[in-house]
This record gives sequence, structure tokens and C-alpha cells, in this order.
Amino acid sequence: MTPEQIQLCKDSWTKVEPIADDAAALFYNNLFEADPSLKTLFKGDMTEQGRKLMEMIGTAVRMLDKLDQLVPVVQNLGVRHVDYGVKNEHYATVGGALLLTLSQGLGEDFTPEVKEAWTEAYGILSKTMIDAANEYAA
Ligand code: HEM
Repeated sequence: MTPEQIQLCKDSWTKVEPIADDAAALFYNNLFEADPSLKTLFKGDMTEQGRKLMEMIGTAVRMLDKLDQLVPVVQNLGVRHVDYGVKNEHYATVGGALLLTLSQGLGEDFTPEVKEAWTEAYGILSKTMIDAANEYAA
């Protein structure tokens, strides 16, 4: 990612944070619409789950320029997701739901450049999680 793309993710995330609970609810609506079968993987309270997700995305975005520190955190997250029953192919569905949610939440601030920056960021996060998961499961 370029420094400009990292900044675009940081700046746009600060606009999502004040509406984090709504954005999380919107995200799960989008996710379960894309693949209703994923509902069965989530066992806990969805408000709580949404907060954990938003917190983790916020942490990741803030650490995009410190990848050496971010990568081990995200690898551990990927390994935990194996035990939640998450499969490699689910990451594309989650990525689609995340981008849709950002476009809904940011409106006209979701420019093509912002979209590209988030696509890159999610690509790094999901690849790191998937690689760690595959390593763990092997
Ligand atoms: C960048 C991608 C992702 C991030 C940042 C993320 C973040 C999180 C976080 C922070 C938790 C809380 C528990 C923990 O920290 O271990 C969690 C749990 C969970 N995530 Fe993810 N996740 C991602 C991708 C996915 C994908 C692709 C799926 C597939 C549907 C998924 C499904 C779940 C499930 C089922 C749980 C456990 C829910 C429960 O305990 O009921 N996540 N995720």
C-alpha cells in the first residue's frame, strides 16, 4: 500500500467510528444477505461481536504503517478463526460485505481511491489470516 492509501483508510475510518454500532449492524446484514449460511458460525451476542470487529479493524488501520507489528496480531486472529469454523472462501464474502458497508456508511466520501485503498488493506489482512490459518490447519 502507498502511504497515501494508508492515509485514505485512516481518514475514512475516523468517519465510520462515530457510527460504529450502526456500521457493524449494517455489515452483518450485508454479510448474511450475501451468504445466510454464515449465520450459524456466530454463537454470541451480535452487538458485542460487532464491537470486537470494529475495534480490530480500527487497530489494523492504525497499524497499517507498522506491518511488522500488525502481522503477528492478524496471524493469531486468523488461527482463532479456524476454530470458529471459518473457511478460506468466506474471506471474499466478508470483504465484499465490508466494502459495501463502507460505501453505504461513507456515501460520497467512498471515492474510487478510497475503495482501492480499502481493497488493498482488506487484501493484506485476509491474506495474512488465510496463510496463518492454512499453516495452522496443515
Ligand atoms: C479482516 C477480517 C476479519 C477480522 C478483522 C475479524 C475480526 C474478528 C474479531 C476481532 C473477532 C472476536 C474474537 C477474536 O478476537 O478472536 C472475530 C470473531 C469471529 N469472526 Fe471474524 N474477522 C474477520 C474475518 C472473518 C471471516 C471471513 C469470517 C467468516 C464468516 C469471520 C467470522 C467470525 C466468527 C464466526 C467469529 C466468532 C463469533 C462467535 O464467537 O460467536 N470473521 N472476528
